[in-house]
Amino acid sequence: AQQRVALTPPMGWNSWNHFAGRVTDADVRAAADAIVSSGMKDAGYIYVNIDDTWEGKRDASGVLHTNEKFPDMKALGDYIHSKGLKFGIYSSPGPQTCARFEGSYQHEEQDAKTWAEWGVDYIKYDLCSYRTIMREAAAKDPANGEKIQSDLMRQAYQKISDAIRKTGRPMVLSLCQYGWDEVWTWAPSLGGNLWRSTGDISDSYLSMSQIGFSQAGLSKYAGPGHWNDPDMLEVGNGRMTAEEYRTHMSLWSLLAAPLLAGNDLSKMSDETKSILLNKEVIAIDQDSLGKQGDRVWGKGALEVWAKPLSNGKVAVGLFNRSLEAAPVSVRFADAGAKSSAKVRDVWAGKDLGTKQGSYTANVAAHGVVLLILE
Ligand code: DGJ
Repeated sequence: AQQRVALTPPMGWNSWNHFAGRVTDADVRAAADAIVSSGMKDAGYIYVNIDDTWEGKRDASGVLHTNEKFPDMKALGDYIHSKGLKFGIYSSPGPQTCARFEGSYQHEEQDAKTWAEWGVDYIKYDLCSYRTIMREAAAKDPANGEKIQSDLMRQAYQKISDAIRKTGRPMVLSLCQYGWDEVWTWAPSLGGNLWRSTGDISDSYLSMSQIGFSQAGLSKYAGPGHWNDPDMLEVGNGRMTAEEYRTHMSLWSLLAAPLLAGNDLSKMSDETKSILLNKEVIAIDQDSLGKQGDRVWGKGALEVWAKPLSNGKVAVGLFNRSLEAAPVSVRFADAGAKSSAKVRDVWAGKDLGTKQGSYTANVAAHGVVLLILE
């Protein structure tokens, strides 16, 4: 992987989920201001990441410039850094990004150099139009089509990884290719610090839960410097209930997922803040052991997930994916905890005392009870 970065899952903010193609320099500055004033920076949210649609045209020597929404990227990077935050940007290996702006195809080293000059600390590299290049190559030799596509995709990420390393500036490298081709098996070896393990999230319980609960079995691929990425947070974007957003935040923390807020930080309700800023939940995500959690029990709409933590503690999520409240139990042995354990309810902020063998809670519809066993 790109060395000595992302030793815990990256935390910060990304422009896409809320602003999409409308994002401007002013929005990014406002996000940087709000990340500090809301207390998010102190809670660990450090990266301020611009997603697609900042790109302009190349000049005669091939150097990529910004479009009119971003008058001066170096100045914007300096502004973000002046707040003690880190600066992320976005590109694609193909000729065009997903939103049809200029990609880095055949300009990889040049672009990495430009990012380094701007002070970029994090790059999300989104497959987009490179898929056309892969498909066209495969069509010429259908018998080997799959292998050809797979090789080309790996080469593209290897190329940008090498180009970044050559700049001498440490940058987190985020692979975005929607979880194809068992990316978790090869991304770390070519320098990926995180890789999308699924398609795009949207702000609905269905999308979020399908993505989150599909991550069973991937825990063995994650660790310090290399993480599965089930996509960015939708907390606070308005189309889920607070209960559902707590499920989202709990599940992402159990998954040791990157915590990249995707809402408008300058207009956060107290409820949104209470979810994004819960220190104990963040600590589960950021635990120094760096182990991803996994499903340890499931029956119908009820699931139990567990994440081993440092000092022998275990975080446990009791989830209810149904539309009716239901009791959910964790057997401590299933979660990898000792048979006698102190139980803490994280969202309630309450110690529940020492329990023997198992613990049962009533879990709200679409809800979670998040526990620490000690
Ligand atoms: C697809 C990615 O999966 C999204 O997260 C976002 O980066 C868009 N592309 C931008 O075009």
